[in-house]
Amino acid sequence: MTDNKLDDSLAVVILAAGQGTRMKSALPKVLHRIGGRPLIGHVLDTARDLGPAHVIVVVRHERDQVADAVLGVSPEVVVVDQDEIPGTGRAVEVALDRLPDFAGDVLVLSGDVPLLDADTLGAFLRGHRGLAAAATLMSAVLEDPTGYGRVIRDADGGVDRIVEQKDASDAEAATREINAGVYVFQAAALRTQLARLTTDNAQGEKYLTDVIGLLRRDALAVAASVAPDVSLTLGVNDRAQLAEAGRILNARTVRRWQLEGVTIQDPATTWIDVTATLAPDVTVLPNTHILRATVVAAGAVIGPDTSLVDCEVGEGATVRRTDATLAVIGPRATVGPFAHLRPGTQLAEGGKIGTFVETKNAIIGEGSKVPHLSYIGDTTIGRGVNLGAGAITANYDDVAKHRTEIGDEVHSGSHNVFVAPVRIGDGAKTGAGAVIRKDVPPGALALSVAPQRNVEGWVENHRQGTGAADAAARARSAQEADDVAQEEQG
Ligand code: UD1
Ligand code: CA
Repeated sequence: MTDNKLDDSLAVVILAAGQGTRMKSALPKVLHRIGGRPLIGHVLDTARDLGPAHVIVVVRHERDQVADAVLGVSPEVVVVDQDEIPGTGRAVEVALDRLPDFAGDVLVLSGDVPLLDADTLGAFLRGHRGLAAAATLMSAVLEDPTGYGRVIRDADGGVDRIVEQKDASDAEAATREINAGVYVFQAAALRTQLARLTTDNAQGEKYLTDVIGLLRRDALAVAASVAPDVSLTLGVNDRAQLAEAGRILNARTVRRWQLEGVTIQDPATTWIDVTATLAPDVTVLPNTHILRATVVAAGAVIGPDTSLVDCEVGEGATVRRTDATLAVIGPRATVGPFAHLRPGTQLAEGGKIGTFVETKNAIIGEGSKVPHLSYIGDTTIGRGVNLGAGAITANYDDVAKHRTEIGDEVHSGSHNVFVAPVRIGDGAKTGAGAVIRKDVPPGALALSVAPQRNVEGWVENHRQGTGAADAAARARSAQEADDVAQEEQG
């Protein structure tokens, strides 16, 4: 991280007005997400780390959606509307109109270049200031430069101009050094050249890139800083690049947690949002997604095949093959395999939510267990409880949701239905197959199934000629033969 102190002579302009046509999406491009955050959110975060005096975001396409997203995370940012004149040059021009007296350095970032970090940009800025150039651009040398503007150098190897792919001759297009879309300009020099831009090019836009050539025509110094790592400058223009940027960011996040002491068995199938937090000695097994504001405490084992969204997992807990959202899993609790924890699930220390169990708004006390085949919703369970296999809380009567309250040390028989609202007192027990419609007092045994009645001979009388009747007849003869033998002996 770069130091966070205010840099009075730095303004950051973030371009986010473009339509993002190549995404073919109803959602504005800069709001597509990687690592759990919109593209523009990553850029805003990086900008903030540089401590600039001003941050301006330029919007136009779906301006309300983009402005809301920006101001939602960075209320201090100034949002500026681009008019109908298209192009990155025009976008910077309208931004600078908001800073008529600013005389420092203007760092231009693109809302669709999400992977640049503050360390790289800090070094870029120091390089620019050290050279006292009118502008410095960031370039990268790519195997495949398709789609990017090319950096054209003069005979001495200095930057001469940038040519957009659509305007490039074959020779220019063959250049593999590309413009990353990140620049720093002296404000005054930038203002002068922006006023000279025309839309006389293949796309009919005011290109910011033309400022570079214009500065050189005025014999002003322009430097290029080649990015140390080409993956930093990846621009997202289509869904393939979105996935690629997401993969690079994830690899970076996974590595960061590995260096913090987290065991991550299979980085390729582990996805961790930038907003999640993991403690040392957490183990993450393959095919696991740790998303949004999820926090995992030391020693917990997550996965395989698990997805946690906005969850809190306590120390030493185990969560296997589970899908959980807005759930709290206590220390040393165990969850899964094949569990579905929905919002409002709170499993206390040492508790268990087992196989094929779905929970929602369920508060489950210390050491309590819901081990098999259950639905527990709108329920409070005390401590030391064991619910038998197949427990169902019938929380919905077609009109409203009702709560089930189960006290401490309750043990329920298999296949119970708790018809809410209903209350089971401390230490109570319920029989197998019970349908609990009335409150059970503390310490009571609740039975709701009628005593069993066997109608002897029913199958042989009513199902003659079936396999069942034959089997019953054979069993009856064997029993009769046994009885005769016993009588003879006795
Ligand atoms: C741009 C550069 C190109 C560079 C590439 C790097 C120009 C003319 N070209 O091309 O040299 O290699 O970025 O990623 O600058 N935007 C506005 N207003 C507009 C148009 C665009 O704010 O009128 C914003 C977009 O929302 C986007 C950024 O500017 O965040 C870049 O625009 P985009 O259309 O993606 O430019 P590229 O074709 O990628
Ligand atoms: Ca782009």
